[in-house]
Amino acid sequence: MSDSRNNLTILQRGEPVLAQVADAVTDIDSEKVKQLIADLKQTVAEANGVGIAAPQVGESLRLFLMCSAPSERYPDAPLLPISVIINPEIHQTSAQQELGWEGCLSVKGKRALIPRYTNIKVSYLDDTGTKHNKTLTGFPARIFQHELDHLDGITFIERLDNESDAIDEQQWRERYMNESA
Ligand code: NI
Repeated sequence: MSDSRNNLTILQRGEPVLAQVADAVTDIDSEKVKQLIADLKQTVAEANGVGIAAPQVGESLRLFLMCSAPSERYPDAPLLPISVIINPEIHQTSAQQELGWEGCLSVKGKRALIPRYTNIKVSYLDDTGTKHNKTLTGFPARIFQHELDHLDGITFIERLDNESDAIDEQQWRERYMNESA
């Protein structure tokens, strides 16, 4: 039943499913996909995430949620409605990239500065199967690129020259709070 929501276990980097290229969703109306979306909403809210991708809960499907809202993990995140993003594609990117701090529910306790395109033109299906074409800018563009990476078997750690460029959450908190003061 899709009206019940379960809190799913979030897998950590090193699990093989997080390094796989996920499969396209072909059955948006299926009970399985509806339940997965309901469970992802519950799971990401519980974890204070701004996004979550199906492979992070062990489902190798091209589906993720964007759910930006300010929280202890992301104090400056804009409050946006939750979006269900299915079979996403990036069609065009800005020439420009910008660095921004990222964390990941599958890389617990780490943060790093990651370059992402400032603007992207994207398309995707929502949970009703309706196609959307959008231009995303700034933080939502960053979330989209981070989550799309999960569908291609990439975590933000693979975007670093050195894994040691990621810092502990506690160090980040001190640095970030100073920078934004
Ligand atoms: Ni992530």
